[in-house]
Amino acid sequence: MNNMELRILVYIISLLFWTSCSSEKEDYVPITENAKLEFTVPANFPEPSYNVTLNPPTEKGFELGKKLFYDGRLASDGVISCGFCHIQDFAFTHHTHIVSHGVNGALGTRNAQPLHNMAFMKEFTWDGAAIHLDLQPIIPITAEVEMNETFTGIIKKLEEQPEYVKLFAEAFEDQKINSDNMLKAISQFMIMMISANTKYDKVERNEGSVFTEQESAGLELFKSKCASCHQGTLFTDQSYRNNGLPIDPEYNDVGRKRVTGLEEDIYKFKVPSLRNIELTFPYMHDGRLKTLEDVLNHYSDGMVDSRTLDPIFKSQNNIKGIPMTTEEKQLIIAFLKTLTDDDFLNDDRFSEF
Ligand code: HEC
Ligand code: HEC
Repeated sequence: MNNMELRILVYIISLLFWTSCSSEKEDYVPITENAKLEFTVPANFPEPSYNVTLNPPTEKGFELGKKLFYDGRLASDGVISCGFCHIQDFAFTHHTHIVSHGVNGALGTRNAQPLHNMAFMKEFTWDGAAIHLDLQPIIPITAEVEMNETFTGIIKKLEEQPEYVKLFAEAFEDQKINSDNMLKAISQFMIMMISANTKYDKVERNEGSVFTEQESAGLELFKSKCASCHQGTLFTDQSYRNNGLPIDPEYNDVGRKRVTGLEEDIYKFKVPSLRNIELTFPYMHDGRLKTLEDVLNHYSDGMVDSRTLDPIFKSQNNIKGIPMTTEEKQLIIAFLKTLTDDDFLNDDRFSEF
């Protein structure tokens, strides 16, 4: 082989090598494969209200939703993220804060609600102002006393972050950074937040746990005195009721009437789920009660009559409230503590770090 031939051969080999490489490159699909996450309804739960098929949680969508949830860029001051007011250790409530605390120390008028089992809820917030989970975050994002931002403002900030450009592109087919995709991603994160591994659940599903005598007695009392409103495995019938709290002169929060405009809805609030209740103190829509003892004392002795007070509280021999002995209250509290879900509270999938 002469020099020329050798060079041609080297050239051909390198060409072959190069084309084989490049053809490999053409077949090579970039790693944007976005696996679907498994959304499993626990055996003792009802069907979800959220239509999961319209926004199926995916690995990248969830990752994006979580990043947004913990990102102060969603607020005008760059600090107040969703996670600022919704802290995982306390079932995503704002521990120690009676009412919410937003940008520049602005105070809201309501106690931050826990975030768990959102996929099973039909309406959101204490008065049902949000009728779809995808729309709920618009309220805190734009509220002056919460995050005080605009979607245009947030999108501008996100577009400057290569990490977000990449994540939006991987998570959604149209690859766009827009409010629709933002809200979908946050929902994907929130619908995966299922709390269904409490002692109560394990007893209900026959998974080897057994109630103590006290817890069993507490459950029986709970069924007869509380479960008409705090119903089923979600511990709420999702209705709006007036449970007899004295009117708060500071805010005079009219509750459900704010949404419907109806006089008959004044001072009614959404029946809250009691899951993880041990950790979501302080209690009630304005966080006025500090402990579970305070709550039970309210039901037995603190109730104030009004036109919209729930009839359940009036029916018992004209005595307002739910008569209970101190011992019965302790038993109910023992039962309520079986609704704490340590697996959920410590689930790394939902933590910031
Ligand atoms: C300043 C504190 C604060 C921030 C920030 C905040 N929230 Fe909230 N969140 C609240 C309060 C207070 C409520 C109850 C609101 C009401 O009843 O009007 C609430 C209610 C909710 C609910 C309704 C829960 C239910 O059971 O109906 C959802 C969902 C929610 N927040 C998600 C979010 C998301 C997502 C973000 C970020 C985009 C966010 N929150 C930011 C304080 C906050
Ligand atoms: C007639 C319906 C009804 C009955 C019966 C009822 N509740 Fe409630 N409960 C509510 C409503 C409505 C609220 C929210 C009120 C508010 O914040 O203004 C509430 C709030 C609570 C809270 C505070 C939850 C939170 O997240 O802050 C606890 C705890 C509670 N109830 C426990 C009980 C127990 C225990 C019983 C039985 C002794 C009981 N409830 C009976 C309707 C009811």
